[in-house]
Amino acid sequence: MSIERTLAIIKPDAMEAGHAGDIIRIFEANHFKIIAARLVNLSKQEAEGFYAVHHSKEFFASLTAFMSSGPALVMVLEGEDIIARLREVMGATNPAHAAPGTIRKLYATNVERNAVHGSDAPETAAFEIAYFFPGMESV
Ligand code: CMP
Repeated sequence: MSIERTLAIIKPDAMEAGHAGDIIRIFEANHFKIIAARLVNLSKQEAEGFYAVHHSKEFFASLTAFMSSGPALVMVLEGEDIIARLREVMGATNPAHAAPGTIRKLYATNVERNAVHGSDAPETAAFEIAYFFPGMESV
């Protein structure tokens, strides 16, 4: 087990609903260390760049419109095995399949408006951290 970094986003739906504080409290309760944070208003183009890996998916246009629809809080979290641990705490992408007590079970609306994002692997974390925090080390 090693100290890792991951990118977390509190998405526009959760920001709009006033759940940012609740979600940060869950991060802190799990001892996820917040080492960087930015409030962003993504343009459609910036959202498309961030989610470029999904460009061929049928939900790409809708997802990038949603992600550029309002403020989002982007954070770098650090901790042991943080990439997997954050994903566990977030719950399944689709809140209908998310375990009780997970962030998405508590706060997501549907598979797209799912409250939070977390990097899914070390390579993705490196790309995503650099996307929002240029020059910041990913490990
Ligand atoms: P996220 O973890 O940020 O990674 C990609 C995002 O695409 C995902 O969360 C959802 O917001 C969205 N997404 C994934 N699957 C679907 C789907 N089937 N329909 C709509 N949006 C989706």
